[in-house]
Amino acid sequence: MFENLKQQPADKILALMSMYREDPRSTKIDLGVGVYKDANGFTPIMRSVKAAEKLLWEQQTSKSYVGLVGDPAYSDVMINLILADAVPRANVAAAATPGGTGAVRQAFELIQMANPSARVFVSNPTWPNHISILNYLGIETVAYRYFDSETRGVDFNGMLEDLAEARAGDVVLLHGCCHNPTGANLNLVEWQAVIDLMNKNGAMPMVDIAYQGFGDGLEADAIGTRLVAAGVPECLIAASCSKNFGIYRERTGLLMAVSSDADARGLNQGTLAFLNRQNYSFPPDHGARLVTMILNDDALRADWMSELEDVRLSMLELRQSLANELQRLTRSDRFSFLAQHRGMFSLLGTTPDKVEQLRADHGIYMVGDSRMNIAGLNADSVPVLAKAIVDAGI
Ligand code: LMR
Repeated sequence: MFENLKQQPADKILALMSMYREDPRSTKIDLGVGVYKDANGFTPIMRSVKAAEKLLWEQQTSKSYVGLVGDPAYSDVMINLILADAVPRANVAAAATPGGTGAVRQAFELIQMANPSARVFVSNPTWPNHISILNYLGIETVAYRYFDSETRGVDFNGMLEDLAEARAGDVVLLHGCCHNPTGANLNLVEWQAVIDLMNKNGAMPMVDIAYQGFGDGLEADAIGTRLVAAGVPECLIAASCSKNFGIYRERTGLLMAVSSDADARGLNQGTLAFLNRQNYSFPPDHGARLVTMILNDDALRADWMSELEDVRLSMLELRQSLANELQRLTRSDRFSFLAQHRGMFSLLGTTPDKVEQLRADHGIYMVGDSRMNIAGLNADSVPVLAKAIVDAGI
């Protein structure tokens, strides 16, 4: 039977990760996979996570199953973190999932169950795995314009024009903040315009929020998602704790289905539990429990927020110094978008050939669409990258 299997295409982000590992050059710079790194290129365990793990080790008395949708206390803290009081808690069905990707996958499956002919509108570009999972499930995708390659900002008119094609039964996938891969984000007026359009054409928004706290701050980064949840009759929200709690390998995510009344919530909650049971039964608990402990404890929460804020500010500083260095070298403002983008990523907006040239000549690894992980830089590598960008004629 195995002979019938076909070689599957490699995920380009993960393929880049292994290429980087195998590169013997000591000067190599990893701007690939979306993992936060400190100035020494290290991905640390956050202090609050370590402290919660210690407490958990002391206090936990059983590893027995928790529940199909995870511990309700985890859903509560996450709903509070992401939605605050945007919608009544009674309208939100939620399930813990293995990471943000698990939430995305379950969301797509739910969409398919609810409407087998749903089309999912995805930004051009979007996180490649969105498209890969949608293709795998046989869900039709429609790309909408998003990135303006001239300004490196959002092509908002193009976006609205394309989203006007969505209709009831379709889903529009939006990035809650820190757009991956571009770093270009909607402002509040634009969020509201998208919501108004969804209410007009009846399409349902789905928000993927994987970088809350990495852009403009924990609250500011959630505002778009809150506006959506409060402004439409129903929506899906896929959230990840991988980045903002730095617990990548613990696989900690949450899927929320927000509806306008508590009756619909019951059906959604049952569907989320069913989908978990079909795919992996119980979701992982360790990371979710740490997040719950941190968010429910004043001291741990304060420490987590302060460390997350340091992480956010360090990325902003790197953005600014890269933009400054490029301005110095080119005597122009054409790279000022780097300081305006938010989150971990910026799309440089160059060709795959130039990206390959940077890799071959300088050992600089970025994703083929020219997505750079800003957190992969430090004070030493900023001038190296800036010079390489200029030398490559980008
Ligand atoms: C990324 O975009 O690099 C991250 O979300 C990691 C991943 O799974 O691709």
